[in-house]
Amino acid sequence: MNLEIVPTGAALGAEIRGVDLAQPIDEATFATIERAYDEHGVIFFRDQRITAEQHVAFTRRFGEIAYNIFGQRWSVPGCPEIVVVSNITDDGKPIGIRRAGEYWHSDMCYTARPPRGTILYAIETPELLGLPLGDTEFASAAAAWDALPESLQQRLLGRRAVFDFTARKRAFPPKPEEILVNPPVRHPIVRTHPRTGRKCLYVMRDDCAAIEGLDAEEAEALIAALADHIVKPQFIYRHRWRPGDLLMWDNCTVQHRAIQDYDLPQRRKMHRTTMGGSVPV
Ligand code: SIN
Repeated sequence: MNLEIVPTGAALGAEIRGVDLAQPIDEATFATIERAYDEHGVIFFRDQRITAEQHVAFTRRFGEIAYNIFGQRWSVPGCPEIVVVSNITDDGKPIGIRRAGEYWHSDMCYTARPPRGTILYAIETPELLGLPLGDTEFASAAAAWDALPESLQQRLLGRRAVFDFTARKRAFPPKPEEILVNPPVRHPIVRTHPRTGRKCLYVMRDDCAAIEGLDAEEAEALIAALADHIVKPQFIYRHRWRPGDLLMWDNCTVQHRAIQDYDLPQRRKMHRTTMGGSVPV
């Protein structure tokens, strides 16, 4: 394979050209892809045609697969590793989760071991008058950290936030048994990427319920200020989807949100897998 890495020109993201994910990928090519993923936070491959099995096999190259509650409800029949993200209905029944990730977030930050990353494969993408809809925005929480004044960086280092599964308003409210298995957890608000050592902010307005050592008012103001800072235009890459795109994001240094600017008859269908993660440090 004649691999080429083309950065987006934004604070994060790169296109990987010259790779056919339906073909076997040798160790050296995979190592180059993984390095690009670590370095750019978001990487994507255009014009792919892969089966659900190939999608899962590619995800497994990065380690174990993670499952979440939405996966259990919306997985591809016979393939529990893949969650369908879609607005399509079949016989009046939704085939997937409709409004996944419409607010800025990092996947499953409310768990003790948030995922390493997520892989989204576009099967159908919406458009109106030939204009693509249903983009996804990605923000580099690492570039946002780098841009903070040193005095504020010093204030933040060592602090931990409480991440509460019940804090965020969700399209599908969790069931009591799902809340029981997701008690509040504490994570550092300045994370160190486990592979690159790069620091990044780890704060989400809708998931962080408190900051240890700060009173409620102070914590709320700090969470809001940092969450707003992370998603400033200079830290963002906006992906305009095409069918056949396979895109993956790093869930430590990157936050994302799906733009919900389409509706039926504009159809959007994505297949999503999630990689197992580690305890944030
Ligand atoms: C997600 O947050 O996983 C959904 C992203 C998207 O559908 O664009």
